[in-house]
Order: sequence, then C-alpha cells, then structure tokens
Amino acid sequence: MTSSFKLRILLTRQEIEAAIRKLAAEISHDYRDRYPLLIGVLKGSFMFLADLIRNLDFPLEVDFIRLSSYGGATESSGKVRVVHHLCSEVAGRDVLVIEDIVDTGLTIAFLLDYLRKKKPASLRLCALADKPSRRRVPVVIDYPGFTVPDQFLVGYGLDWDERFRNLPEIYAVDADGP
Ligand code: PRP
Repeated sequence: MTSSFKLRILLTRQEIEAAIRKLAAEISHDYRDRYPLLIGVLKGSFMFLADLIRNLDFPLEVDFIRLSSYGGATESSGKVRVVHHLCSEVAGRDVLVIEDIVDTGLTIAFLLDYLRKKKPASLRLCALADKPSRRRVPVVIDYPGFTVPDQFLVGYGLDWDERFRNLPEIYAVDADGP
C-alpha cells in the first residue's frame, strides 16, 4: 500500500443504515422466538454488530470471538487460529455469526467449521460486505449486506494497519498520483 493515498467514499452512513434495517427485518423474522446467540468476529465486526442489534427488539445473546490468520499483512494464508475464545456454550444454540467482510472466505470458513464442531442447533452467517471476486473457498452468506468491488476498504470497523476503524462510513483506499 502506498504512503500517498486518498479515501473515496464507497458506502455512506445512510446506505449502511438502510442495509442494516433490511438485514434486521430479515433476522427478526427468522429468530424472534429462538433466543439466538450472535457471535461477532473481532475486531472488524464491532460497529456493525452494535448497530445491527439496536434494530433487533427480541431476546438474544451476544458473544465475541477473535481470530488471527498467519501470513502477510494483506493476504491471508488460510491458517487461522482463535486468539480470544467464546464465553458462551454453543451446543444446541441457534448461532448467527456477524462478520464485517468476507474476502477470500478463509477466515469465515475456518470459523464456521470450528463452530459446527460444537454442535449448534443451527448456524448461519450475516456479513455486511461481500467481496466475491477474491473468494478462495466457497461461503454461503445467509444475510448479505453489500457486494463490494475488489478494492482495499476501510472504515466502519475495517482497518488499514489498525487505523480508520472509527470512520462511520466505508471508504475505498485509492493510490494518490502515479
Ligand atoms: C478481516 C475481516 C474478516 C477477514 C476477512 O479481519 O474482519 O474477518 O479479514 O478476510 P478473508 O475472507 O480473506 O479471510 P482481519 O483478519 O483483518 O482482522 P480484524 O477484524 O481484527 O481487522
């Protein structure tokens, strides 16, 4: 990544809020009476999860897991490990994983496999952004927000070397100049 860059807005606050309202309506319809366990994948999903559950007016539980993939800074090696474990029991629960973005799919494929071994009653995935052009393993996103282009994205939880997570919108990072 170049040191000279510009942030170009890709998804506005209003677009994100509208997508979240739509996702929340679908999730409410499917989970209203099921006391689901929502699992946020740290760090990137914290903002999306927080906004999503403000739109869910039924009983649910929230937990977090933090994963780390070995390899380069911008390219996942596919060797994922858990660095912050869940506190909740997964067995028998209706589990909904909340991700910010599915890129190669390696992180979420690992997590879904990890959770499946814990025998949840059901297991589904909600992801705000889907970058299918980069996919290396097939992933079914049960509740997808946006399809995004193959560009480096920051904001709304997404970072560039830990920066920009705090931006309320999602931006594409453009190299500035030649
Ligand atoms: C990002 C993002 C997803 C994952 C997607 O997390 O939050 O979890 O990468 O990439 P993949 O589909 O290619 O596996 P990251 O590992 O950057 O950690 P972070 O959430 O702490 O930023």
